[in-house]
Amino acid sequence: MTRLSPSIPLHLVTAALIAVAIPTKADDAAGIDAAVAQSTRDIATELVNQLGQKLKGAMANEGAVAAVSVCKEAAPAIAKNLSTRHAAQVTRVGTRVRNPAMGVPNGWQKEALAEFEARLNKGDKPGDLEYWKVIDNNDGKRELRYAKAIVTQPLCVTCHGKPEDIPAPLLEKIRAEYPDDQATGYSVGKLRGAVVITRPM
Ligand code: HEC
Repeated sequence: MTRLSPSIPLHLVTAALIAVAIPTKADDAAGIDAAVAQSTRDIATELVNQLGQKLKGAMANEGAVAAVSVCKEAAPAIAKNLSTRHAAQVTRVGTRVRNPAMGVPNGWQKEALAEFEARLNKGDKPGDLEYWKVIDNNDGKRELRYAKAIVTQPLCVTCHGKPEDIPAPLLEKIRAEYPDDQATGYSVGKLRGAVVITRPM
């Protein structure tokens, strides 16, 4: 049996081992520097706010059909801009997806969505649904993974509600732009997806 060198205090070894796997606690930012946690939250808020503004403006001024095109251009552009500005990967993913090029969740993002779904069902407030994890990459660098739940509001149902409730010209437009659209059938208060952020630590 290999013995630990007596010159390395055991609590340091334990701390190092924990650091590899931390923090699995997904309901708060435990173990993550408060400033980093806050700036990560801020990126998610900015995405939601910028896109929400664009969307609401387009819906009010040009109508829902035209707003589909606005969304198609604005959503990836805003995400890309935030990614560049913050040296992070920022996007939105869906529980069911409209734009497969942007919105398909990977492994950890599916895990985050499953956790949000469970917490929402058990009565947690949508605004509280966050997921945090720090992982060690293969190349020895540490990476922060963050997700914030996106829950359907009344406005969203216009374009993500049941197909039979979506006005025909709007549904046609959505299907023309997104032939593989899966992102309908949502009612208000359901988990629609998440803002997901990956950034180096
Ligand atoms: C005018 C129609 C319209 C409205 C209203 C709308 N969306 Fe979307 N949504 C879209 C389109 C179009 C896309 C695909 C955007 C793209 O190409 O990246 C999309 C994509 C998404 C995605 C990314 C995952 C995916 O399915 O590709 C999320 C999450 C999302 N919408 C949430 C919402 C929420 C939450 C609201 C309400 C605040 C909302 N949407 C309102 C049209 C709409």
